[in-house]
Amino acid sequence: MSLLEIQNVSQHFGELVAVKDVTLNVEQGELHAVIGPNGAGKTTFFNMISGFYKPTHGRIVFNGQDVTALTPEARVQMGMARTFQITEVFRELTVRDNLRIPVEVAQGLRLRLYRTRQQTEQTERRIDELLELGGLTDNADRNVGELSHGDQRSTEIMMAVAMKPKLLLLDEPAAGMGTRETYSTALLIRKLHRKQKLTIVLVEHDMRVIFNLADRITVLTEGEILDQGTPDEIAASEKVRTAYLGDERESA
Ligand SMILES: Nc1ncnc2c1ncn2[C@@H]1O[C@H](COP(=O)(O)OP(=O)(O)O)[C@@H](O)[C@H]1O
Ligand SMILES: [Mg+2]
Repeated sequence: MSLLEIQNVSQHFGELVAVKDVTLNVEQGELHAVIGPNGAGKTTFFNMISGFYKPTHGRIVFNGQDVTALTPEARVQMGMARTFQITEVFRELTVRDNLRIPVEVAQGLRLRLYRTRQQTEQTERRIDELLELGGLTDNADRNVGELSHGDQRSTEIMMAVAMKPKLLLLDEPAAGMGTRETYSTALLIRKLHRKQKLTIVLVEHDMRVIFNLADRITVLTEGEILDQGTPDEIAASEKVRTAYLGDERESA
């Protein structure tokens, strides 16, 4: 059984078909990248997985359960986490205090009035672990609002990781970043995948980010699957080269 099974999903917005009959499976431990030019339907597809949009057609099965009609919150409960967007991060709080929120949720402590000293220590230990993993230790006590764009993104990603998700969803994690920050974000994602064994669906239009990261790639154009395969297969695909890689190279 695949962890995530997406079966023939479509999303119509009035007359516009933003995603059309897309099928893909994500295996436990896989990093699956969905790529495509702007307007290809990537974010729409992402929103159907996380539950923000209900597909017009098709079915989504997560961890053996049909989640097609479930709310985003119910999917989070089942172990699906998407990146916190920076708007959901408290800019006036430190990185450590932001991380404490999802850590306490994951430990079932969020709404408890009393905690044992042991529980508090456990929380702080877990925060330290996440800071280390996210390369944020040196910035732990700074307010998120003062951090570089890249470190803010790392904070968002680590807040999602703090939930101990079965599946981590990332929508264009390198959007708006320069080359160096793009590279360090890619390194963080690689570490989460290879060392923490997280299953990840990554939606991205920047080719540089995904070719060295993904186990498998799905290429979307105009809402439909153009091709699917390993990075080597996609790099060698005539269809993809014609529709997409060719453009990139010319503009590079
Ligand atoms: N909520 C919406 N209502 C109407 N049209 C939408 C909506 N969201 C996206 N679209 C349209 O669907 C198409 C795919 O958009 P999107 O999924 O954002 O693509 P991508 O993320 O690949 O750039 C675009 O033509 C976009 O204008
Ligand atoms: Mg998008």
